Amino acid sequence: MSYCLGIESTADDFGVGILSFDGKILANIISAYTPERGGIHPREAARHHAEVAGEVVGKALQTAGITPQAIRVVAFSQGPGMGPCLRTGATAARALAAYLKIPLVGVNHCVAHIEIGKLIGETKDPLTLYVSGGNTLVSAFEAGRYRVFGETLDIAVGNCLDVFARDAGLHPEEGMPLGAMVEKLANQGQAFISLPYIVKGMDLSFSGLLTAAAQLLQRAKYPIEDLCFSLQETVFSMLTEVTERALAHTEKKEVLLTGGVAANKRLQSMLSQITDEHDARFCVIPKEYALDNGAMIAWTGILAYQHGMTIPIEKSFVKLKWRLDEVYAPWVRD
Ligand code: ATP
Ligand code: FE2
Repeated sequence: MSYCLGIESTADDFGVGILSFDGKILANIISAYTPERGGIHPREAARHHAEVAGEVVGKALQTAGITPQAIRVVAFSQGPGMGPCLRTGATAARALAAYLKIPLVGVNHCVAHIEIGKLIGETKDPLTLYVSGGNTLVSAFEAGRYRVFGETLDIAVGNCLDVFARDAGLHPEEGMPLGAMVEKLANQGQAFISLPYIVKGMDLSFSGLLTAAAQLLQRAKYPIEDLCFSLQETVFSMLTEVTERALAHTEKKEVLLTGGVAANKRLQSMLSQITDEHDARFCVIPKEYALDNGAMIAWTGILAYQHGMTIPIEKSFVKLKWRLDEVYAPWVRD
């Protein structure tokens, strides 16, 4: 059997996954960099990735129970993402490929989220809503590419929830990301406070809404539970509106929800409702594969490798702003 080792390092996580060419996940190891306070600092995260790279690769091989020589191809997340983080992962991947004398494949991070979602969720041709700390997009495959039907014009929805939570004085606890803390408080909220609802065409904007919510926080007039509830209702309705319109337009029969924010039960219920109304199947990707992970890079690496899409080391530069709709994906059939 042939195996691919995939390295993910676009942001705060350094992940290594190993898959067999027939789609079995043998290992999926993640080492997360957690800043002591505030958001991610790209250089600090990259330093973390460099420190743990050897250990995480070793652990993945051990978990998979294979020797490095059994690896047939190395894949890495080539973009989009933070420069220093991407470069650290790319360096590790190049070193491995050179040492083992095997081919290298550069993978688009957003495509990888969709491909692992298809594998895990057993969907063939879904409309995907990918919502995380750094991304917010609605995509489906049409005419040879993953098209972007809607996306954020400014910050990502996860970032919006995180900044609001930090402004409210919440601190991420072990095993509980800020978005999950907002969800917990929102469950206790009762009154809806109106916030700016900004959908432009098929695109979304969260920064004005975040400013408005932060101002309400400062005035300390409303309970935090009601503010969290209202923030969630507003941002998730915006996401649901755009997803529903894309679904009506594309007539896809499956909806895939992925990314860190996919864990949110309220978002799941709103999307599941519109999916039902369109007679489509709704699928939420479990956290292990919805968050950034190496398995998704390995799997997409296999698909690309099987279509001859390897890159020479000297051309394996990272692409910080690599858009999903620029990716040539010959392994997907229309
Ligand atoms: P990417 O590179 O994909 O943008 P990321 O590391 O920023 O990656 P993820 O790890 O996929 O993002 O997701 C983290 C985001 O998910 C954070 O914004 C976090 O607050 C949010 N999140 C996690 N759990 C929940 C939840 N239950 N409800 C809402 N948001 C959540
Ligand atoms: Fe991601």
